[in-house]
Amino acid sequence: MTQNAMTQDQMKSAVAKAAIEYITPKLEKESIVGVGTGSTANMFINELEGIKHLFDGAVASSEETAKRLQAIGVPVYELNDVNEMAVYVDGADEFDPRLNLIKGGGAALTREKIVAAVAKEFVCIVDDTKQVDILGEFPLPVEVIPMARSYVSRELAKLNAQPVYRQGVVTDNGNVIIDVHNLDITDAKGVEEKINSIVGVVTNGLFAKRNADLLLMSTSQGVETFTAK
Ligand code: 5RP
Repeated sequence: MTQNAMTQDQMKSAVAKAAIEYITPKLEKESIVGVGTGSTANMFINELEGIKHLFDGAVASSEETAKRLQAIGVPVYELNDVNEMAVYVDGADEFDPRLNLIKGGGAALTREKIVAAVAKEFVCIVDDTKQVDILGEFPLPVEVIPMARSYVSRELAKLNAQPVYRQGVVTDNGNVIIDVHNLDITDAKGVEEKINSIVGVVTNGLFAKRNADLLLMSTSQGVETFTAK
């Protein structure tokens, strides 16, 4: 490691702090913050403690995130009880120049997608290992109703890709995950729609129809800001 090189954890922490700086001026006493899932989102939760007096509460994209928010004293609301969400902050497994994302490495993709849909602004926080030109090096997670697992795998294989059942993982919604390897994602919106139309699929981890509005990327040199092209 060179003298200035940062570890991935240091980069995650830096981008979490940058997200706090970005959202702070937008918060009001009644604001609800959507909070994502994963190690970068966890760093964001740690930082959120310092500004918890500035907003009303949060909606969590997973049971794990809800526990972490409660542990730092942030009220957690059910999404159905919330009319408006100022901002949603979450990590990603990959992002492209249009700020289309692959998410779901932590198996929370469906709730993440729902919370992102409700939020006025989706701020994605990543380190520079997540940047790609075309999505798909990271296997695409697909959440599937358990009884449809084999059928959906056969349908996914027809897309010239390799579906792999994520053994031992049950989502917060009681479903299973199939990770799709070597999928051609040159048309991210098209692939998102196509996979979601397979019966038995709950949703897939492509965030192209609802991509990020803003992305903060941590590098060893500092945090870069991207808006969708
Ligand atoms: C969880 C996710 C995460 O945002 C994604 O996996 C990135 O995680 P990390 O911040 O740990 O790299 O989509 O379902």
